[in-house]
Amino acid sequence: MLDETAKYHMDARAEEPFVPGVTEIWPSGAVLDETDRAALVEAALEMRIAAGPSSRRFESRFARKLGHRKAHLTNSGSSANLLAMTAFTSHLLEERRLRPQDEVITVAAGFPTTVNPILQNGLVPVFVDVELGTYNTTAARVAEAIGPRTRAIMIAHALGNPFEVAEIAQLAADHDLFLIEDNCDAVGSTYDGKLTGTFGDLTTVSFYPAHHLTTGEGGCVLTSNLALARIVESLRDWGRDCWCEPGETNKCLKRFQYQMGTLPEGYDHKYIFSHVGYNLKATDIQAALGLTQLDKLDAFCAARRRNWQRLRDGLEGTPHLLLPRATERSDPSWFGFALTVDPEAPFSRGALVDFLESRKIGTRRLFAGNLTRHPAYIDQPHRVVGDLTNSDIVTEQTFWIGVYPALTEEMLDYVISSVTEFVEKHS
Ligand SMILES: Cc1ncc(COP(=O)(O)O)c(C=O)c1O
Repeated sequence: MLDETAKYHMDARAEEPFVPGVTEIWPSGAVLDETDRAALVEAALEMRIAAGPSSRRFESRFARKLGHRKAHLTNSGSSANLLAMTAFTSHLLEERRLRPQDEVITVAAGFPTTVNPILQNGLVPVFVDVELGTYNTTAARVAEAIGPRTRAIMIAHALGNPFEVAEIAQLAADHDLFLIEDNCDAVGSTYDGKLTGTFGDLTTVSFYPAHHLTTGEGGCVLTSNLALARIVESLRDWGRDCWCEPGETNKCLKRFQYQMGTLPEGYDHKYIFSHVGYNLKATDIQAALGLTQLDKLDAFCAARRRNWQRLRDGLEGTPHLLLPRATERSDPSWFGFALTVDPEAPFSRGALVDFLESRKIGTRRLFAGNLTRHPAYIDQPHRVVGDLTNSDIVTEQTFWIGVYPALTEEMLDYVISSVTEFVEKHS
């Protein structure tokens, strides 16, 4: 049956020739082959419909791949971010725990669910600006934002480009702050030769189809700190104190010997709750896909780097466009290729985007742009340090195009010639 599935995949996915202006050039998407389809079918045939052995196997392999001791699979990258931030409010951290009104430094221009968990935990986001070109903030901006109530830093590596994570981790250490790296867009990126996601206390990944590898919906929290891992697991799994997997009983050999809170002695540990938790688990069907995707991660990251470089070389010297640049000392595993139209350019960002879209070249915004300008955030407690001039420029002038592995050289060359043709015609 699995052989038939692989055959079905090959037949269904027969390569269509690329037709410029007709074939969609998506900015991102899942890259799925016959092994992925067979893995999904196998998991479905075995009816592994809840979290189970594939989830554990995926967590263990993914943790190792990303240089961590523990990974916890979740139902999205946003859930991973929520768990990571919430973990720092745990009573198990005693006096280091974050309390309502404590401040968390973050970036104004980015994805909303890097910031939302700060607000969802009654904490106060402190927004700093980004640099144009890297679309990241700097250690200097973060240092300036540290105030008496600052307790944590939560920042995403923008479009795969690492922020100055070694310096920011050092700032966190110097000021006794927690650091969460939102690595949702940057799996495989390095800074100073070290994988992003290995500098902070906790890191998160998204497995939504746009990302470096996919489980459909999905995400992950990673850490090498076993105490934090335990808190994340408890919060993910209803807030329970017990760490037996579903279906397991009495792994600790003292299931009926605990006394916690004001519960009676010997209350079943499986039903003792030490956190006000969630259920943010993923299923084994998702994990089965994650396992086959993981085998291809290195090839995916290499293709993203190659595609980004082809666009960068092809667009070098194009007037009126700011091309993206890697943060110094980094080697990004790119998520997208950002372009900022010079505000003084003789054409608008909108006109260029319309032209590209008319040629079936997909574009995306740098997510929310300046979050503080969105209806959801205007009335939320927050602090802004410095001005957000560049975040505003991003909101008005920036968009990105794709570098994901399914894009061919032919497609990328068509993107390059389309951009240059438009710019020449309007200059
Ligand atoms: C930087 C960043 N963080 C978090 C997320 C949320 O991930 P998910 O869509 O899996 O919830 C995304 C989504 O693209 C993202 O780009």
